[in-house]
Amino acid sequence: MDSRAKMTAPPSSLNLGVLVSGVGSNLQAILDAIAAGTLNAQVKVVIANRPGAPALDRARAAGIPALTIPHKDFTSREAFDRALVSALREADVHWVVLAGFMRVLTPEFLDAFQGRIINIHPSLLPAFPGVDAAKQALDYGVKLTGCTVHFVDQGVDSGKIIAQRAVAVEASDDVASLGARIHAAEHELFVSVLREIAAGRIVPFEA
Ligand code: GRF
Repeated sequence: MDSRAKMTAPPSSLNLGVLVSGVGSNLQAILDAIAAGTLNAQVKVVIANRPGAPALDRARAAGIPALTIPHKDFTSREAFDRALVSALREADVHWVVLAGFMRVLTPEFLDAFQGRIINIHPSLLPAFPGVDAAKQALDYGVKLTGCTVHFVDQGVDSGKIIAQRAVAVEASDDVASLGARIHAAEHELFVSVLREIAAGRIVPFEA
C-alpha cells in the first residue's frame, strides 16, 4: 500500500456562512477566533440584508466575500430566502450562522440547510424573545439574564436550545451597561458552540 494512504488527513474545516443585519461584533468574535487558530472554521461568505451594515466592512477587512441582498428588493419572503440559499450554496457553505440577522426565515430556507442553522439571542430563552431583550429583562426586574445559542426554526427565537450563558443584572444597570455585558458573553458563547460543531460534538438538529 502506498504509505501516503496511511497518513491521517487533516480535519476538514467547517464552512460557515454568516448572515448579518447590523454591527457585526459577533461576526468579529468568530473571525478573531479563526485568525487566532482557536476555531477550526472558515467564513466563506457574509451576507447582509441591509445595505451599509457595518458587519460587511468587518468581513471585507478579513478578506471574506461580503454581499448585500436587500430583502426589500424581493416581493416575497420565499423569493428573498431563495436568493440567500443560492448565494450560500455558491459559497459552499455547510452551516449557517445568524449573527444579528433580523429576519425570520421561511421553510424554503430551513429545508435547504436542514438542522444546520444557528442563531444567538441576548436573553435566556424562552424568556424575552424578539427585540430589545435587555430592556425587557430590566423592565421585568429579573436578576439573572444572559444569552442563548439555538437551532433556528420557523418561529422567532424559538428553536431547540444548544447553549446558554448567564449574566447577573446589577441594581445600577441600564440597557447600555447590561447590553454590553450580555454582548461580551455572546461573543464567548457563540465561538464555543462553533468549536463544538467543528469538532463534531454538536450535530445537525433533527426534528
Ligand atoms: C446580538 O445581541 C444578537 O444576540 C442579536 O443581535 C445582536 C447582534 O449584535 N441577535 P452584533 O451585530 O453581532 O454586534
